[in-house]
Amino acid sequence: MSKFCCFFIAMFFIAVPVMGNSVHYEVVPLPQEITYQRGVAFYLSDKTVILYPEDNTLMRRNALFLADYIRETTGWQLVVEGTQVNGIRPINAIILMLNDHISQEEGYEIIVKSRTITVQGRTANGVFYGIQTLRKAIPRTVNADELAFPAVHIRDYPRFAYRGMMLDVCRHFFPVEFVKRFIDILALHNVNTFHWHLTDDQGWRIEIKKYPKLTEIGAVRKETVLGKNTQTYDGIPYGGYYTQEEIKTVIAYAQERYITIIPEIEIPGHSLAALAAYPELGCAGEGYEVATRWGIFKDVLCIGNEASIPFIEDVLSEVTDLFPSKYIHIGGDEAPRDHWKQCPKCQALIRAKGLQADEKHTAEDRLQSYCTQHVETFLKGKGRRIIGWDEILDGDIAEEATVMSWRGMTGGINAAKLGHDVIMTPRTHLYFDYYQSTDTEKEPLAIGGFSDVENVYSLEPVPAELTDEEKQHILGVQANLWAEYIPTVEHVEYMILPRLAALSEVQWLKAEKKNFDGFLTRLPALLSIYDLNGYNFRK
Ligand code: ACM
Ligand code: ZN
Repeated sequence: MSKFCCFFIAMFFIAVPVMGNSVHYEVVPLPQEITYQRGVAFYLSDKTVILYPEDNTLMRRNALFLADYIRETTGWQLVVEGTQVNGIRPINAIILMLNDHISQEEGYEIIVKSRTITVQGRTANGVFYGIQTLRKAIPRTVNADELAFPAVHIRDYPRFAYRGMMLDVCRHFFPVEFVKRFIDILALHNVNTFHWHLTDDQGWRIEIKKYPKLTEIGAVRKETVLGKNTQTYDGIPYGGYYTQEEIKTVIAYAQERYITIIPEIEIPGHSLAALAAYPELGCAGEGYEVATRWGIFKDVLCIGNEASIPFIEDVLSEVTDLFPSKYIHIGGDEAPRDHWKQCPKCQALIRAKGLQADEKHTAEDRLQSYCTQHVETFLKGKGRRIIGWDEILDGDIAEEATVMSWRGMTGGINAAKLGHDVIMTPRTHLYFDYYQSTDTEKEPLAIGGFSDVENVYSLEPVPAELTDEEKQHILGVQANLWAEYIPTVEHVEYMILPRLAALSEVQWLKAEKKNFDGFLTRLPALLSIYDLNGYNFRK
């Protein structure tokens, strides 16, 4: 039957038969509103052109992304053309446009009619998410000349402005090329924030020009423990770091995909690699080496040391020169107080600053708060804000700090009640280093715990006990991948996929529209994109 004939059927019977291969708009994450329309489908073929507003480089790049995605699934190389979109009435075109009538910053609309598909967003970011939806709607096409897009009006926007994923590159190091692939995976799931955990006890992974030993010494450990902190070590030196030039390329790559990178520099705990490089910054002043096993170490930065604060400021200056993100993550988790209690310099600072213990907090808790507040003020002077793990609540929380709630939801709830912004990343659901199955024998070694796709999906990040005003402080949701037991890039992919798909609906879709059974019916189309890209995912 010809398209012409289809058109008449549409006129007389309203229901519109679609010929041949057809796309499915019910992708992951599910668009908020999909409204099928009367009328004839659009037929995509290798003759379709992609149009974008002339002279708009972001939209041109969006158009090229779409052309690439379509080529990957169909083999068709579409022509991409800049044009004065408003002045023409194209046929057989996908038109990318900006439209400020769309109210949500990252929102988009897709309108499919017989002659055109229009993707419009308030921003180029929104158009990018529309493109992701189109991309995921297209089935892998072989031996077909055209692909039917049923007439539709899709209206979509994210539930949360902050949609994050963290990767630890310290316990194991992943090369720049993989970090870019990881960013591609995030983009496929509408994630807009990549939290890059760059420093820890087992390796310092970012070049700092003023302190070259951080990477000369701090980026290499002499060996790595086997298994779960057994008494046996592999005897093989292990290391790696990113140069500032490499980091710039990663930031640019992420920006092109509308992903902000938030770097994390751990202060004052998880600092053994830094102390191995500059032992004078620790309370003992000597005897440190880059950690070779996993866990929490008592060797933390000596806050009382007069060299420590300038060190932190110098490092953060280079970090902010590199990374344009509004937020800088300053860590703050798991910093034992043992050495501060014994250290004359730390005790002198506690006295000098009048830091007092009370029934809730020790003077040493307040020493960490003092350090965090100092860092907050310093970064504020550079127009930045801090994020810290929920331990930054243990003491006097820095005035404008955003809290990343990982030890469950409680830290986030307390922070929101105190008027602080919160990112929910509870380990019970969103630690992707946990096992994805209870049959752990059949899984690669993991840190422990359990969170499968269904458990991830079930998370409601906005606690009912908060008032409406407090709820506004929940900026969003993030999953974390700690890499103690993840030595290879294939293993990284295995741990995040397909849990990231479940996370994407937690981050994107309104709570009342979430439905796990529906998600499971939509997931296979996404898995076929994983296959197409060669992503290693848990089956
Ligand atoms: C953490 O998992 N220590 C934030
Ligand atoms: Zn000290």
